[in-house]
Amino acid sequence: MLILGIESTCDETAASVVRGGVRVLSNVVATQYELHQKFRGVVPEIASRAHIERINVVIRQAMAEAGLSLTQMDAIAVAHRPGLIGSLLIGVTAAKTLAWTLGKPLIGVDHVQAHLYSARLRDDDTPPPVIEFPAVGLVASGGHTAMYVMRSFADVRLVGKTIDDAVGEAYDKVAAILGLPYPGGPYIDKLAAGGNPRAIAFPRSMLEKESLDLSFSGLKTSVLYQVRGKKGLEREASALSQAEMADVAASFQAACVDVLIAKLRRAIDRFGARCVVIGGGVTANAGLRAGLPRLGLPVHMPLRQFCTDNAAMSAGLGQLYLDAGVTSPLSLDAVPFSAISRMAEGEE
Ligand code: KG4
Ligand code: ZN
Repeated sequence: MLILGIESTCDETAASVVRGGVRVLSNVVATQYELHQKFRGVVPEIASRAHIERINVVIRQAMAEAGLSLTQMDAIAVAHRPGLIGSLLIGVTAAKTLAWTLGKPLIGVDHVQAHLYSARLRDDDTPPPVIEFPAVGLVASGGHTAMYVMRSFADVRLVGKTIDDAVGEAYDKVAAILGLPYPGGPYIDKLAAGGNPRAIAFPRSMLEKESLDLSFSGLKTSVLYQVRGKKGLEREASALSQAEMADVAASFQAACVDVLIAKLRRAIDRFGARCVVIGGGVTANAGLRAGLPRLGLPVHMPLRQFCTDNAAMSAGLGQLYLDAGVTSPLSLDAVPFSAISRMAEGEE
């Protein structure tokens, strides 16, 4: 079966055609970095306007790259939650319009759940990984940092999340402190490769002994003080040499990776997970990918192009729902928050 996926939850306008829930035939992503760069973060009104301007072009390009026509699609899947409401509305409206005019099923999917699904996507004819459940899932992105217990890709429960910044947000803020462009994750990643991860002992916030929640804002503040002096005002980042910048990046990254791995370890032990499934922009990070084997059990990670926001993951997850006979009505709403519920105390 062929599914057209649509994504517009934040600042990427994306469309993709996926066959059989796995094989990505096209993956078009229009980023808006240049529009938000000077604000060092996403401006919701600018994002929704840009989605309106780009959505038709992006869908048309996804169809052209797949060499298929809209009438050949078996369903239209769209990430309808969570995200910026003005941004979500554009993708949802486009998907509903296509589903209605083509007479095809509409499938609304959760963007965070789609990030977890992305490890199954393939850009060639190799088979998807065999994933043994229960798994611990980690979504680490600019908007989300959370862990899940997965009994399947459709049965996902939240077990811990950041109490302040998302890890990608911390990457972006540290990049801003160092005077690097937005979004800063990939720049820090590159810089860290040439630095000493033990140069500066940044804090690793583990919260309470049993906690699966995460926190990154203290780490970010430590970087600010390290770079700009005790009050964060004493010197400019430009006073740092290239080697000092690299050491800050490498030491910050080591702290992030240590925390994520320690929290995954706690969750694996608590829920008897057989493997780990990761997704989201930060899972493209070389330091994190290199550190994950420390967990000592299989880790399923997306191909790099499917880590950051894309529509292939929505199409893939949409196929799973379609196979189960689950579709959405044309009254499908855009919803700012995720539908994934937290596992209750003692439920494990
Ligand atoms: O998944 P994503 O595209 O959007 C959200 O759903 O939030 O994630 C974007 C985030 C940004 O914060 C970006 O800096 C971060 O992912 N990111 C990275 C890397 N590539 C993207 N962070 C660390 N290392 C990377 N290589
Ligand atoms: Zn995302």
